[in-house]
This record gives sequence, structure tokens and C-alpha cells, in this order.
Amino acid sequence: MARTKLPILTRATADKHDLYERAVQCSEAEIEFVDKAYKKIRGKPARVLREDFCGTAATACEWVRLRKDNRAIGVDLDGPTLANGRKRHVSKLSAEQQARLTLQQRNVLNPSGPGLGVDVVLAMNFSYWIFTTREQMLKYFRAVRRSLGAGGVFFLDHYGGADSYLEIKERRRIGGPRRGFTYVWDQSYYNPLTNEKVNRIHFEFHKGPAWRNAFVYRWRLWSLVEVRELLDDAGFSNVTVYWEGDDGKGGGDGNFKVTTRGEACRCYIAYITAEK
Ligand SMILES: C[S@@+](CC[C@H](N)C(=O)[O-])C[C@H]1O[C@@H](n2cnc3c(N)ncnc32)[C@H](O)[C@@H]1O
Repeated sequence: MARTKLPILTRATADKHDLYERAVQCSEAEIEFVDKAYKKIRGKPARVLREDFCGTAATACEWVRLRKDNRAIGVDLDGPTLANGRKRHVSKLSAEQQARLTLQQRNVLNPSGPGLGVDVVLAMNFSYWIFTTREQMLKYFRAVRRSLGAGGVFFLDHYGGADSYLEIKERRRIGGPRRGFTYVWDQSYYNPLTNEKVNRIHFEFHKGPAWRNAFVYRWRLWSLVEVRELLDDAGFSNVTVYWEGDDGKGGGDGNFKVTTRGEACRCYIAYITAEK
């Protein structure tokens, strides 16, 4: 039987959230890390997880799928992004799984309802860097700490290294000839006086125009030291850094281990846990 060929991916047929997830998000690996790290810290599994800045809530959906008594709350300001997640991810959950998931369109600074008293809060893909002053960041961290239940743990990620201070582009091919595309990470602006930076994501296709500025992030580049100090100031204890192992080819291997000594490298990604 002849197989129907999928249409070639172009700007007109692409969904930018789908491209983003294929290029930069691995919810399964993220949830595996969170699940294992929480068990190690608390000696029992977490049940209720809030995903701040959830976007399409891919990770919240993964949490609900992981175990049948898991519950998840996804929080994001943007209605169309949440709607995209409902269509592409939530609709694929069973009715019973959907009943264990709540999506809230609201500001992470004001958690409410089922977003309170949770075991885990996630702030991933550096989204919390939208807070550009110490005051704002402290306000966010305090709001997270208040909304964790007893024994709650806050999970964040962090990137840095020499390259993070440069205005540079990184290009990566994703997928095969028909459904493939090029992901471009464009660090387009950095001001060393303020640490303000603008990072852009563009997508290029085999045919037709590129999707320039599909996502634009206006962030402050926070150092790991600043983030750790602010977590301490917000009242968290045992702030712990997990450093990614080396794949031997200049990249990360996806394994994150507790450390008190990082590496002076061009580019790193780390996880942080902070306990209530
Ligand atoms: C980089 S995306 C993160 C997507 C996903 N969580 C991930 O890990 O890849 C950042 C998201 O944060 C949301 N956002 C920005 N400021 C917010 C705020 N104050 N409260 C809630 N969501 C916010 C944006 O709408 C956007 O969907």
C-alpha cells in the first residue's frame, strides 16, 4: 500500500509551539529528573506539581501521565498559548487524566486555588528571568515559597558560561527532510551594565520563508550566585545545584548530578532545587 507523504513543513503549515517543543523541550526527561530528585530529598514521591510559565503545559501533562494519583496545575499568562496546549496535549490525555490537570491563565506572582499547598513548583527554560530586578525576583521566589505545602520543593533551571555574555547565534538541524527545520537561537542583545539581554528564536524551513522572531525573550542574565542568594533571602533552605555531565563531544549528556563545584566552560545548563 502506498504511504501518503506528509506535506513538507513550511512557515504556512508549521505550529511554532510544536517547533519550539521539538527543538528545546524534553518534558519526559525533565519530569524524570524532578520525580527522582524529589524522592531523594523527601524519601517519598511528590503528588501535586505546579508548572509556572507552563506555555503549552507539555510538562504538566507528562506529570499527570506519570502516576495515577499525580495532579498538575499549569500557570501561564498567555491565553492563545494555553489554548494551543489544550488542543495539542490536553486533548490527548484520557478523561480521567484531564480531571487531574488544571490550567490557570494568571500571573505566577499571584498563585491561587489548586496552585497553593503543592509539593513541587517548576520554573523551567529560564522563564523566571523575565523578572529583571532583585525586588521582582524576590517577590516571585517568596510567592513560590508561600504556595508550597510542607515539604515542598522548588525546581528551577539555569544557563551560563562564557557564551551567554556574547551576541551570537547557534543553529541546529532538527528532524528529517520533509518535517525537518533549522532552529536558530539568536542572542541578539546584551548590555553588560545591566545584564539585560534579548534572545530570539527563529525557524528556517527547506522551502519558503523563515519564521523570524517566532519567540522573543527580554531577560536579565542572572548569575547562579545571584539566584542562590535570592533563594536564600526568600527563606528557602538547602539550595542545591545539579550540574550536567559531559558527552565528550563538547555537549551535555543529560545527566545532572549534585555538585558544589561547577566547570569554567563556554556553556552550561544546571538544575537548582530549593526546599521549603
Ligand atoms: C519560555 S516560555 C516557557 C515554556 C515552557 N514552560 C518551557 O519550559 O519550555 C515562557 C512562558 O512564560 C509565560 N509568562 C511570562 N510571564 C509570565 C507571568 N508573569 N506569569 C505567568 N506566565 C508568564 C509566557 O506567556 C510564556 O508562555
